[in-house]
Amino acid sequence: MSRPLKAIVHASALAHNLAVMRRIQPGRRMVAVVKADGYGHGLENVVRAAAPEADAFAVSSVEEALALRAVEAHKPVLLLEGFFEEAELPLLERFGLWPVVHSPEQLERLAAYRSELTVWLKADTGMNRLGFRAAECARIVERIRTSMPHITLRGLVSHLSSADDPDSPLTGWQYKEFGHLAVAGAEYSVSNSAGIFTAPTLPDEWLRCGIALYGASPLVGRSAAELGLRPAMTLESELISVRPCLRGDTIGYAATWECPEDMPVGVVAAGYGDGYPRHAPAGTRVLIGGTPVPVIGRICMDMFMVDLRALPGARAGDRVVLWGEGLPVEEIAAGSGTIPNDLLSGLTSRVPRLVA
Ligand SMILES: Cc1ncc(COP(=O)(O)O)c(C=O)c1O
Repeated sequence: MSRPLKAIVHASALAHNLAVMRRIQPGRRMVAVVKADGYGHGLENVVRAAAPEADAFAVSSVEEALALRAVEAHKPVLLLEGFFEEAELPLLERFGLWPVVHSPEQLERLAAYRSELTVWLKADTGMNRLGFRAAECARIVERIRTSMPHITLRGLVSHLSSADDPDSPLTGWQYKEFGHLAVAGAEYSVSNSAGIFTAPTLPDEWLRCGIALYGASPLVGRSAAELGLRPAMTLESELISVRPCLRGDTIGYAATWECPEDMPVGVVAAGYGDGYPRHAPAGTRVLIGGTPVPVIGRICMDMFMVDLRALPGARAGDRVVLWGEGLPVEEIAAGSGTIPNDLLSGLTSRVPRLVA
């Protein structure tokens, strides 16, 4: 491999993070959310590492589910957006996939389909993204049970809008709204990673963990380390050039950063073409040999520059950690005005994922 940028995926951290959540919510079923290529870690890598600890998986499309089925043949797979067209229904049946049913159009297609399927009904408890209003759910459950004998309704699912903010009253309200959906014989799935950590007693038995599985904190103001989570990815590269710059030299596109003195400047092989955030401001930290050094100038497509005054002995070939152990992806995300989910799932295909 020539270019030194790579994402190391820590299989043991994935298993550890699931085990942490199991300890917090014993007796629940853990659904590992592996959509968007396992939040950028590589679907196959995550499924292999998480399978011993996960009770089920969740993805966003049949295509993702089929890729998953190539690695994990038996565990339940939830399709979070259900199906998009009728032609997918035979695949759901053949591969034992569980679609979430969130729209009247999907209901009609299910009614017209004659083979057996297991589905979950999506209740909208306040996210206002997908699902039927809670008040409509009882009628739909009744319709499925009385007039669709080929459809098994496994449970009800909903999604939290604000659980990352432990002070938000919306989460309690959504759980309460969901709690009103007493449907005999149905199972429930509401909580995401944040819900798992904030709600001590949950009304649901199938917990859908995404970002916490990958070792980033799901909660505003609480670090992953505080929650006992370990980063599942280290994004690392190397210095590919170290150049002596002079006082007054400007760095990179639009000359946004000026050297205040004669100083060594390093060039790191990683850029926004890899998914490193273009909006990472000057001052964003990377680690070289464990020492933090700041980004200077604008992030380019394939490279960016760092101030090496704290490391005058740095050389081309030195390893650079962009996020991971010792440098939470949350820090890079917050500095760049985004969230860890965006950075992790936004890593592009040219970054090799290597399992450690
Ligand atoms: C419907 C649904 N459930 C669960 C999750 C997992 O959420 P988190 O990554 O916050 O754990 C997501 C993430 O986007 C989702 O859309």
